[in-house]
Amino acid sequence: MSVPPADDPRALRDALLGQLAGGARGVIATLAAEAPLYAVGGAVRDVILGRPVADIDLVSERDAIDLAQHALPETHLTTHTRFRTASLRIDGRRIDLATARSETYERPAALPRVAPAPIGDDLRRRDFAVNAVALRLSGDAALLDPIDGIADIHARRIRVLHDRSFIDDPTRIFRAHRYAARLGFTIDPHTRELLRQALPHIAALSAARVRRELELVIAEMTGAAALASLHEDGVLAAVHPVLAWDAPRSAALTVPPRWQVPWQPFGFALLSAGSSADEAESIDARLHLRRADAEAVRGIAALRQSAHMLARRDAKPSGVVVLLDRYPPASVAALAATAADGVVREIAHRYLAEWRHVKPQLSGRDLQEMGVPEGPRVQQGLQLIRAARLDGWARDRDDERVLVARFVKSIRDAGAMTGELRLHSNGH
Ligand code: CTP
Repeated sequence: MSVPPADDPRALRDALLGQLAGGARGVIATLAAEAPLYAVGGAVRDVILGRPVADIDLVSERDAIDLAQHALPETHLTTHTRFRTASLRIDGRRIDLATARSETYERPAALPRVAPAPIGDDLRRRDFAVNAVALRLSGDAALLDPIDGIADIHARRIRVLHDRSFIDDPTRIFRAHRYAARLGFTIDPHTRELLRQALPHIAALSAARVRRELELVIAEMTGAAALASLHEDGVLAAVHPVLAWDAPRSAALTVPPRWQVPWQPFGFALLSAGSSADEAESIDARLHLRRADAEAVRGIAALRQSAHMLARRDAKPSGVVVLLDRYPPASVAALAATAADGVVREIAHRYLAEWRHVKPQLSGRDLQEMGVPEGPRVQQGLQLIRAARLDGWARDRDDERVLVARFVKSIRDAGAMTGELRLHSNGH
């Protein structure tokens, strides 16, 4: 992707619109014809950097809900009356249209009180200078850059617009590290100092807002680097003292997902890999995790308690499977990445890569046809032949059949024995 000259608004506008499919371009043209319209935030920053643009944030000094409803009467809009925004999805992209506004924060970490305002004020309420550049899409293209955001984009620098920024909105602490990792930018030293000073205000953020920030970090391709710097600056510890990050966790979250475990639960399990069962509960109490994430966090805490059982090079695969099948794969993957004992890591790794996938060839129905009675015995029989496969006693269907035949015989013998016992006891 070529980089348009950053001082040529028309080239930037063409480059931005050129990345969109016809439907999204049409929506923007319709809105821009109706009222002065600006692209702001990530889309402008990314087009200046020559990066692909994802979602588009638009701002208008006209009321966004009225404008969107009037200009796009046939389009399904999601509106937010408190902030006067309207959004829609088109061509796989989200387009957000906001009313230009100023914000005042009544207390740290609270949602702001908003009032309609000129575009210049709207830019000044934003998080970082790199996100505070507007590109006019209506009429003659123009760049509005009151805070020298373009210079920061070129200098690859994340800088807040005023000293209270992180106190007003501590989610920006996470955003600063997320952008720095994603864009390869550095956080300006004064901004970093302000960020560290604002850490106590993270405690005032709601569970949902902190959780969301961590989810966004984990979802990024460069999430591992962001988590490393969040750890270094004490941000993770400010969320919960046991959350941590280090090089082995980075390595695990950076490789292509070789273990095929769900990514977000894996990320949360890695973050909380140092926790006890009680600490896992308190992490969930702080973050109100989504169910699969909470299970992965509890799972890694419980696994740490049983990890010593895996610290045997001669552990039988069937025994390992009995133990590890009880936990979410994301928790086992976190153990494989973080266990102090190399043997534990190796065993967890083999479980994830091989053993958990080993299944018997015979089905429950096959077992019943061979005489296993319906009910819990079928499950037992399947476990038996799976264990035999795992430990190398059964290699093919025929081997499995031999084992099932023996199993059926043992059930019948046991049945005959209890029958006899019953006969005897009845007889007396
Ligand atoms: N914003 C802000 N403070 C926040 C969140 C967002 O000032 N806590 C502003 C920023 O100007 C940001 C814009 O709102 O650019 C849109 O936010 P968001 O969609 O989260 O980020 P993008 O800029 O779209 O960046 P990206 O999607 O690339 O992460």
